[in-house]
Amino acid sequence: MLDSKDFDLWVDNYDRSVGISDDYGTYPFAGYKQILNYIYGEIMAGSGKTLLDIGFGTGIITKKLYDKGFDVYGQDFFEKMLAIAKDKMPEAKLYQGDFTIGLVSELTQRRYDAVIATYSLHHIVAEEKPAFIKKLKSLLNEHGKIYIGDVVFPTRKEMKKCKAKNKEKWDDEEHYFIVYELKEHFPRLCFVPFSHCAGVIVLERV
Ligand SMILES: C[S@@+](CC[C@H](N)C(=O)[O-])C[C@H]1O[C@@H](n2cnc3c(N)ncnc32)[C@H](O)[C@@H]1O
Repeated sequence: MLDSKDFDLWVDNYDRSVGISDDYGTYPFAGYKQILNYIYGEIMAGSGKTLLDIGFGTGIITKKLYDKGFDVYGQDFFEKMLAIAKDKMPEAKLYQGDFTIGLVSELTQRRYDAVIATYSLHHIVAEEKPAFIKKLKSLLNEHGKIYIGDVVFPTRKEMKKCKAKNKEKWDDEEHYFIVYELKEHFPRLCFVPFSHCAGVIVLERV
């Protein structure tokens, strides 16, 4: 039986390992912890046990789910991240590869109950996001879901407002999600905002 601790990623001071502070509620990490916590809780509450993490980094969420018995798969292109994550999750199937080119073939040969991508898919340009997300959707099991936690704005107007306020910090090489525009391709997507600049986009297979 799960208790409330099982749904809280941060109960055991897990945040100390994150190295990112969202205490000030500022761009780009305002809402970061809540986003990871939400995704973790949603996946824990589901019935599936097979998980794909795109751009897993040091495996902040996945390591927790791995410890709970999830079959973890993932792709990241940064060798150092891969080494850290493999060390933390020796049984996980983690692959090195640039997702702007696509998913490695080992990952496209199976289906997943959940796909997560936190603070990674903003490296894909806006025009290429729909095709990549469609590919991810095709890899879901029947009741599977995709959770994209990232810098996200409801509209381009809100993004411009945030950019104007954060001129010095703004990263022009990152391509943030605009919910209004993504909805043209995925009308049934669900957006859960967690700060003025970030939230979770949830997509289902159907
Ligand atoms: C900001 S980190 C986020 C890590 C983790 N998902 C988290 O929430 O803490 C972004 C990750 O995406 C990976 N990444 C960025 N661009 C990528 C690409 N084109 N292909 C594969 N991985 C990429 C980076 O190596 C890094 O591990």
